[in-house]
Amino acid sequence: MTDHHGQGQQHRHKSGFETRAIHAGYEPDPTTGAVIPPIYATSTFKQDGVGGLRGGYEYSRSANPTRTALEGNLAALEEGERAFAFASGLAAEHTLIRALCRPGDHVVIPDDAYGGTFRLFDKVEQAWGLGHSPAPISDVDAVRAAIRPGETKMVWVETPTNPMLNIGDIEALAGVAHEAGAQLVVDNTFASPYLQQPLTLGADVVVHSTTKYCGGHSDVVGGALVVRELELAEQVAFHQNAIGAVAGPFDAWLTLRGLKTLGVRMDRHCDNAERVVEFLTGHPAVAEVIYPGLEGHSGHEIASRQMKRYGGIVSFRVTGGESQALAVCERAEVFTLAESLGGIESLIEHPGRMTHASVAGTDLEVPADLIRLSVGIETADDLVADLDHALG
Ligand SMILES: Cc1ncc(COP(=O)(O)O)c(C=O)c1O
Repeated sequence: MTDHHGQGQQHRHKSGFETRAIHAGYEPDPTTGAVIPPIYATSTFKQDGVGGLRGGYEYSRSANPTRTALEGNLAALEEGERAFAFASGLAAEHTLIRALCRPGDHVVIPDDAYGGTFRLFDKVEQAWGLGHSPAPISDVDAVRAAIRPGETKMVWVETPTNPMLNIGDIEALAGVAHEAGAQLVVDNTFASPYLQQPLTLGADVVVHSTTKYCGGHSDVVGGALVVRELELAEQVAFHQNAIGAVAGPFDAWLTLRGLKTLGVRMDRHCDNAERVVEFLTGHPAVAEVIYPGLEGHSGHEIASRQMKRYGGIVSFRVTGGESQALAVCERAEVFTLAESLGGIESLIEHPGRMTHASVAGTDLEVPADLIRLSVGIETADDLVADLDHALG
């Protein structure tokens, strides 16, 4: 790398995804040959004379070499110009909103956005003067209709969405956003860069909760932004430093370690999710299985076009209403009852009472009989047996 920003990674990395995942963003340390980036647990850096920075490093809020390695890696995986690592997904989102919007502006958000994202727009950014309109992101015309020309600065999309697994057509939505002079932001947390690269389909910014598949081991909370163009990168860089919600070096190191195995993990997540979907489909206690890999799923065709596979998240509705949904969550054993997703271990949760409790009573409310599974990489037979037992 020529500087500490990892800029232009995509030009130097024509190699395959897994090669980039393992090597991009870091060259073995010139002094020691360390093949893995050290955890630079330092807040500040010695200057060689006033303003004589070594490699551009001054203070660890502005840049830290461990974080630089992670940011370079993420930029290469998402094929972006530059990436930025944050203390959490929501910290990344807040920083992006402040970089792109001003009071009086407006954004379009998914009508089934992650509850925390909705809460950020509804309770924090709205009080600052930023308006928002929820729209179904699987309906391009509805998104177009929700845009307020001149006011809308961002069209914010999750695809697949959390927890309903709706699919947005990234290429078409980029066209709609750009027609109106807005930027398309894609939360790529559910797909991960292994399954989908929104910037290559016309999106301007990718958001990640790296807490999920990127980190992949449920041992670190983090977030990231990856941007397609330099001008936007500069605005985000300014706000990252000015707001200061950065990833610390330990967290950056864990996340980067996770990214190195993203490809193999995602393939196993998808294999196991397919087994689980096969089991749930047709089970008498299951009213509906929601998975973009199913031919009957309304977004199947678009998902097949823009995703490599269909991911590790499976949602389903039970025939016995909320009480049965809660009982299934509590009876499962290999599937741990917990919030979050994207780790090696299988998790089960009730979105209405847990991750999406903050959208209760709004247009974004989720069905009470819905269960969300984050299918892990354990032995598939054990996962199926556990669900069989939990469904009674
Ligand atoms: C799709 C999605 N985006 C963003 C977030 C927020 O990320 P974090 O919890 O790392 O702040 C989450 C968290 O669950 C999520 O599922």
